[in-house]
Amino acid sequence: MKTVIRVTGVGSYLPQKVLTNNDMSKMVDTTDEWIKARTGIEERHIAADGEFTSDLGTAAAKEALEMAGVDAKDLDLLVLATATPDRTFPATATSIQRKLGMTGGVAFDVGAVCSGFIFALATADSLMKNQGYKKALVIGAETFSRILDWSDRTTCVLFGDGAGAVVLESDKSDEADQGILGHYLRTDGVHSELLYVDGGPSSTQTVGHLRMNGSAVYKHAVTNIASAVDFLIDKSGYSISDVDWFVPHQANQRILDGVAKRLKIDHSCVISTVSKHANTSAASVPLALSAGVRDGRVKKGDLILTEAMGGGFAWGSNLFRL
Ligand code: UT7
Repeated sequence: MKTVIRVTGVGSYLPQKVLTNNDMSKMVDTTDEWIKARTGIEERHIAADGEFTSDLGTAAAKEALEMAGVDAKDLDLLVLATATPDRTFPATATSIQRKLGMTGGVAFDVGAVCSGFIFALATADSLMKNQGYKKALVIGAETFSRILDWSDRTTCVLFGDGAGAVVLESDKSDEADQGILGHYLRTDGVHSELLYVDGGPSSTQTVGHLRMNGSAVYKHAVTNIASAVDFLIDKSGYSISDVDWFVPHQANQRILDGVAKRLKIDHSCVISTVSKHANTSAASVPLALSAGVRDGRVKKGDLILTEAMGGGFAWGSNLFRL
């Protein structure tokens, strides 16, 4: 019998406050037409004063636990992907652990910015298969509104706040083609200056603001994402036509379309939430997955392919059967 790691619950949370493109046009020199045409974004959610990344992550986790029918007390692993922790330390994952009432196990953060959820899912899967953890939460939660330069129109219109989560449970089975099937992870520090935050405890003793050379990042995005997916699909022995749902990182509708075209993935198989969520970094993939599950498109047994690319550069992809 082989160990199989199954995704048994999916959840999400979006803060109540919504900022539309028209709202943004009153803050910086931009228009609804420009934002929609260049990115597909129509609006984004913004965390309330006093609402932290751990609060967003806790709310998403509760929904995922409820769907799985798992009690937080029975969790033995919690991996949080975030680039916007509540505090420099301790790990925000430990705040979520406390807020959920998860009394045992281990909780820690993973940092891979927009690819954070892809890396966190791979980390949790590996720990469960190799170290025997039985029930885990993998969360992507971000409050990017707190690290945006709200006077920089080239970046502030692109991002939003939110959280998504999945519950993983370990099982034994003789059958292949079940649960989490594979991952591809990659980084290249050469491009770190194209997308970064200009602050940090060690360098400036400040939090800093997000800086991005958008068109340079864009040029790498489609190629890197497509190669990650190609590599994973080849390695795992599946073909693109086997995939039921493509759940990409939601940075820009043009990137989603470019990747789908290059990989010959039909538009009807792509979950897109970028118009309503904008780019929520590590939260974007689990938020999109949750949207697909909640509206009934994504069903138990479907083969899911994720991808993301962002600061680092860090990029990657996961393949799993729900
Ligand atoms: O999740 C992390 C990964 N991040 C990404 O994947 C983001 C990748 N990049 C992108 O999505 C796109 O490059 C952007 C949406 C950021 C920008 O789109 P673009 O088509 O690459 O535009 P651009 O940066 O080449 O700018 C075109 C023009 C510039 O004006 P000039 O120099 O041509 O006169 C910008 O100043 O658009 C101007 N511009 C704006 N105009 C109105 C830039 N931002 C805005 C704005 N409103 N908000």
